[in-house]
Amino acid sequence: MRGASEYIQLSSSPEGFSDAGFEEAEKPEQSVRDHSNGHNGLIFWACIGALLSTTLSVILFARDLYLGTGQVPFQTTTGQALRRPSQYMNLDKILANSTHEFPPINNFPPVTFQINVGDSRRKMKEDERGRPTKLGAVYPDDRRILINSKFATIVQFRNIDYAMERCVLNITMPQKTDTFDPAVTLLDPSLVDIWTLDTPNELSRYIDGATTYAPKRKELLTTLTFSETSPNTFGEFHCPSGQFTTLELTCSPLMANCNVDFWQDRRARPLGGLHIIQHSSTVSPV
Ligand SMILES: *[C@@H]1O[C@H](CO)[C@@H](O)[C@H](O)[C@H]1NC(C)=O
Ligand SMILES: *[C@@H]1O[C@H](CO)[C@@H](O)[C@H](O)[C@H]1NC(C)=O
Repeated sequence: MRGASEYIQLSSSPEGFSDAGFEEAEKPEQSVRDHSNGHNGLIFWACIGALLSTTLSVILFARDLYLGTGQVPFQTTTGQALRRPSQYMNLDKILANSTHEFPPINNFPPVTFQINVGDSRRKMKEDERGRPTKLGAVYPDDRRILINSKFATIVQFRNIDYAMERCVLNITMPQKTDTFDPAVTLLDPSLVDIWTLDTPNELSRYIDGATTYAPKRKELLTTLTFSETSPNTFGEFHCPSGQFTTLELTCSPLMANCNVDFWQDRRARPLGGLHIIQHSSTVSPV
């Protein structure tokens, strides 16, 4: 009798295990048939799965061939804006009755472009101050402002933060320091017309075609004097959060030979260049 044995050999498979003893061993045929049924079912469904998967692959492959390419999702079409969802959900509710005034923000244009004054297509060109270094080419944050009888400059600000919608446009000629040379050429004073441009879109090199031509003019905002002797400002005007303020700077007809040429860097100190100062609008929205 097996019951008497102290040692039962364990086998490496369930079939083997049942062969090795106990109740099942007394009905070997039944046991084998049950197991093989299970295997047949598994193999059947595995085959079905493989067939379905293969069919799906072939269909998808054929579709890609038909459509040309599989790289559709990252394409942008000309002039399409990048999605910039608001980061300030429900802040309006929190600030609804707030009288807290936040300190003003100095905001510099991330892009400036030049256009030829006589070019009816208004083709834009971005100048840069890239220079080779031991580590490779370096492109500093310097932006060029160039306004004379031949060139006009397009600048775009992104109105940043929340409830900072009262804007003042400020031109302060940048200073030469040990670390920053604005390379100023200025007919002092120069009268410059500031036009708003007709676009809600971002002038971004990451949007196909967005930086090719300048948008058309909307209205004359103001005429500003560019002078070394004192900063000059315009405003306040309304600059809605998350939107763009896009301006064109061109010689005023009152002074067609105006001449302004300099580089500005938002990090340079003392602060200088063309920038907007965004003031808190929680107290008295414009
Ligand atoms: C703001 O004031 C109005 C009227 O006094 C009140 O109904 C509302 O609940 C207040 N909202 C908040 C966020 O305190
Ligand atoms: C314009 O900017 C300069 C430089 O930051 C600053 O000294 C001056 O107070 C600003 N003017 C106004 C009216 O904000």
